[in-house]
Amino acid sequence: MSLLVLEGLSKQFGGLAAVNNCHLQVEAGQIHALIGPNGAGKTTLINLISGALPPTRGRIYFDGQEITSLPQHRRVRLGLARTFQITNLYKNYTVLENLELAVQARLGSSFRFWQPVSRERGLREEAEKVSELLGLSARNHTPVAQLSHGEQRQLEVGLALACQPKLLLLDEPMAGLGLEESERMVELIARLGQSLSILLIEHDMNAVFRLSARISVLVYGQVIASGPPEEIRANPEVHKAYLGDEGGAL
Ligand SMILES: Nc1ncnc2c1ncn2[C@@H]1O[C@H](COP(=O)(O)OP(=O)(O)O)[C@@H](O)[C@H]1O
Ligand SMILES: [Mg+2]
Repeated sequence: MSLLVLEGLSKQFGGLAAVNNCHLQVEAGQIHALIGPNGAGKTTLINLISGALPPTRGRIYFDGQEITSLPQHRRVRLGLARTFQITNLYKNYTVLENLELAVQARLGSSFRFWQPVSRERGLREEAEKVSELLGLSARNHTPVAQLSHGEQRQLEVGLALACQPKLLLLDEPMAGLGLEESERMVELIARLGQSLSILLIEHDMNAVFRLSARISVLVYGQVIASGPPEEIRANPEVHKAYLGDEGGAL
């Protein structure tokens, strides 16, 4: 079975079908991009998958188990982690301190039973590993408020990594980043994609086509196409859906 399966998933906001009978399969071990015009329902779909919102209809399976009505924290424990568009960082704490808090949150109550010394060492070591993966080791002891915007976005990805996810949900990680910062984020996502499955929502088509093994296109809450990048690029329906939007970049 695929790592993530959405079956006939719908989310109605009053009279608006933000997600409308959506079918999607995300395979393990690859980066799968979800693209679509503004208002297509991408963020709503992430909210349904992560459990931030309940679906109106349909089912969600993750790692062989139905999770449709599981609360968010249970999904995180099963290996589903997301980043948020609003920042979750403690600005006066350092990079390592932020990561340590995230690791501590994952360990939860089991953590109380550790010896204080090994507790601190364990946290520190794991936080350092995540920071290294992020490429932020040189900034370990810098307060978040002094990081560049791009570094803060990288650290946000790190908070999700501290959950030790099997599937990482990224909602527009490149939003608001400059050219160089975007490039660093693309490199980070590529690096993570070597050991993690990623569902990537992104408007930067350059990044999407460089990173993804598979691309699905969401329009009016429905997946209108799903396939390898070259197939999506050549799909006339996809071009039509993007006319007047980002179509030129496809
Ligand atoms: N909480 C909400 N209540 C009502 N309408 C919403 C809510 N969240 C999103 N929408 C609407 O659902 C549609 C899809 O939004 P969204 O999922 O944010 O799209 P995308 O991320 O693809 O731009 C939009 O028309 C948006 O206005
Ligand atoms: Mg969105």
